[in-house]
Amino acid sequence: MKKYENIELKAIFDVSKVLTSSFDLERNLYSVFEILSKELDMRRGSIFLLDKKTEEIRIVAAYGLTEEEINRGKYRIGEGIVGRVIESGLPMFIPDIEKEPQFLNKTGSRPNKKGISFLCVPIKIEDEILGVISADRIYREEQGDVDDDLRVLSIVASLIAQFLKLWETYKIIEDENLILRAQLKDRYNFPNLVGQSTSFQAVLKTVMKVAGTDATVLLFGESGTGKELIAKTIHFQSKRAKGPFVAINCAAIPENLLEAELFGSEKGAFTGAVKRVGKFEQANGGTIFLDEIGELPLSLQPKLLRVLQERIIEPLGSSKAVKVDVRIISATNKDLSEEIKKGNFREDLFWRLNVIPIYIPPLRERKEDIPLLIEYYLKSFCDIYKKTVSIDEEAIKVLISYEWPGNVRELSNTIERLVVMTEGNKIKVHDLPDTVRGVLRVKRGYEGELKLPTEVEELERIRIMNTLPRYNFNIRKTANALGLTERQLNYRIRKYGIIIKKDVNLHDSNN
Ligand SMILES: Nc1ncnc2c1ncn2[C@@H]1O[C@H](COP(=O)(O)OP(=O)(O)O)[C@@H](O)[C@H]1O
Ligand SMILES: [Mg+2]
Repeated sequence: MKKYENIELKAIFDVSKVLTSSFDLERNLYSVFEILSKELDMRRGSIFLLDKKTEEIRIVAAYGLTEEEINRGKYRIGEGIVGRVIESGLPMFIPDIEKEPQFLNKTGSRPNKKGISFLCVPIKIEDEILGVISADRIYREEQGDVDDDLRVLSIVASLIAQFLKLWETYKIIEDENLILRAQLKDRYNFPNLVGQSTSFQAVLKTVMKVAGTDATVLLFGESGTGKELIAKTIHFQSKRAKGPFVAINCAAIPENLLEAELFGSEKGAFTGAVKRVGKFEQANGGTIFLDEIGELPLSLQPKLLRVLQERIIEPLGSSKAVKVDVRIISATNKDLSEEIKKGNFREDLFWRLNVIPIYIPPLRERKEDIPLLIEYYLKSFCDIYKKTVSIDEEAIKVLISYEWPGNVRELSNTIERLVVMTEGNKIKVHDLPDTVRGVLRVKRGYEGELKLPTEVEELERIRIMNTLPRYNFNIRKTANALGLTERQLNYRIRKYGIIIKKDVNLHDSNN
């Protein structure tokens, strides 16, 4: 008997495992019967659920029955054994169905009823009856006894009841999720991509065209120009919109962890590693956004190339390849051709990523979009903070003339701060941040006490400092832009002690 008890325990343990393995209701319930049939020799089983609205009792999962037999298995409360168990909430046992008039055999699945016993146990949680689980059993000699079977089935039924409750909550969450996704889709709809300039309209046109395809896209542009927003827009406008959008910033994750993060890892692949699903698998059926792709270490580039060519990934520490269905959008603020020349980026990879290149111009090259963006963000932050704030014409002019090294992100942050901080309901020039007004060094409180020549010098210094990086510290071009001769510019650079430093990303406010 001892041995039999162990089998029971094992069966119950296995059942609890399959029930928590996923939220696929039918598949899980079917697996329950597979276990019961294998471990306890129960054959033909059904799980019936009570539909509270129609009061109909229907089979939701069955083992050893054909589709047709399943469809026939419908009962009303009180009808047949199944209906009576639902009504009473108590288990029933029919030793021999041949001799039992109550047994309706509605499914017609037992042409020969000889020697078959029938077990039927309610699935209930607290006092609520959700359905029943039933099983056929042929008792031969010393093969366990009925009490044991009823006990096991009752435990299994209570596990199923808990699973069903969880599943209901899961369904509700899943529906909410769909609604949220639909709202998100709305959020990244074109109305949220603000810009009427010719150059930005050209970007939108391309976005519209590529959204209808599965083509790989590479987004170029300075930090804060809207690369991620555009990647999301492409995703939510594509036929993958219902699938996941998974973003990963290749620069933000240490090189030794990036591989597992992207491709996943098997348990124990490196010390302390647990099994981990990589971003590519997470993005299955949707889109992966590889931000700052220029930072992808050379060692991982062949792996990415393989995904691009074959849509196959190989988790760290595993030798089996996994097929993934993902659309790849990547982004960079680096000049990748420069990286290729320096040997930091593989040329073959570049061409695979660069199927559809989209260049997003910086804000200073489409100044006509600035007033639109100001208006857009003013409205959205007023909504968020429940304020009514407008902006003065003069202040708009100052905002337009500013260079916006952090692009739309910086503009959005600036407007948000203004909405929060401004005390009246009109933003005026003096409310604007010092950087924007070009008075970087002038401390608050000193204002107005400065002698005019000092203020002029300060303005000059700041204009030069802001303009130099735009031309990568090229003296001739900067001088030209400022309307100075090279000699005049060099003189001022020395005078103000400005340090010339090429190839530095002064304004990366990303992350
Ligand atoms: N054309 C635009 N219209 C409205 N908001 C924008 C636009 N471009 C960018 N933004 C906003 O600016 C911020 C920075 O955009 P993001 O996509 O993160 O830029 P990047 O990835 O290029 O650094 C985000 O808050 C984004 O919503
Ligand atoms: Mg970004």
